[in-house]
Amino acid sequence: VNIKELVNTIIPSTDITDIEACGAAYAPTNIALCKYWGKRNKDLNLPTVSSLSITLPTKGAITRLAYRDAKDDLVIVNGNVVPKTAEFYTRVVTFLDLFRPKNLCFAVKTNSNVPISAGLASSACGFAAMVLALNDLFSWQLPLKQLSILARLGSGSACRSLYPGFVIWNKGLLANGLDSFAKKVDIDWPELCIGIVLLTTEKKNISSRKAMQISVNSPGYPKWIQNSERDIEVMLQAIFDKDFLSLGLQVENNSKALHALMLSSEPSIQYSNSATEHAKGLVADLRAEGIDVFFTQDAGANLKLLFLQQDAAKVRAKFTHLEILQPFTEQIQEYV
Ligand code: PMV
Repeated sequence: VNIKELVNTIIPSTDITDIEACGAAYAPTNIALCKYWGKRNKDLNLPTVSSLSITLPTKGAITRLAYRDAKDDLVIVNGNVVPKTAEFYTRVVTFLDLFRPKNLCFAVKTNSNVPISAGLASSACGFAAMVLALNDLFSWQLPLKQLSILARLGSGSACRSLYPGFVIWNKGLLANGLDSFAKKVDIDWPELCIGIVLLTTEKKNISSRKAMQISVNSPGYPKWIQNSERDIEVMLQAIFDKDFLSLGLQVENNSKALHALMLSSEPSIQYSNSATEHAKGLVADLRAEGIDVFFTQDAGANLKLLFLQQDAAKVRAKFTHLEILQPFTEQIQEYV
């Protein structure tokens, strides 16, 4: 599949009439409850499994895009110019190439309140905001389904960052990925809380891209796919039934299975540190006290907790620096 040609079937033809135009957008981040881990197509970020996430409306990225009268793109993240030698610079430029009219260059400025590359889904909100900003800059007025497909090309998990609440990304079956996009699950759960246990803002030692590839070749991977298919069904049922215990247990098991898979891979991948293990112990202590709190961990040492509002005070008492979010009672900010 030629990605540029594929993109041209999705976006309207771009006519630049105003070189001074700029685009801007905000996108929230999302936390996977049932993880996306492994690709059936690396170039198109097509997953081997469907995934389920929850959007965190107040955590995200604002991206501004403008044309630039220069020979190359300028990428600024949180006020710092990203050096052209950085892997991230190439990733952004390669993504922008898919949409670049003629040889125009871009200036991209992103401000994010999510620590970068620390397992808190900074790339999900970053690429989602970039696609929304492109939609704004070029006045495409594309529906969310198409925007979700484009965001997926930047970072898989970004395709889920275009909707509030629970979001499902169906893996799709087509080779061109036009059936692999995210959709909102129409169920609200206002009492649901997500606690961010920020243990480190240090960059992870291996990117999720590389770690995924290693895992896919691990002997335990087929089993992980099987479990994941069951996990997402159980989670969706638990959401429909508002069965928090069932949801929480399945979320934690999915995360444990993911990290067990990574540990058993060759080379072995370890995102946890001693603080992560200590925090998991605190979750176990709370559960032993009869409090329904569960953790999930992505490609980083930090943890995210799931619990209901009725238990928020008890969870906070155990985790001193816990940031508590209520995804269903917060609004996604509109960028103006
Ligand atoms: O979208 P990526 O390439 O940053 O991968 C995300 C991987 C996980 O965060 C670990 C899982 C997920 O579904 O978000």
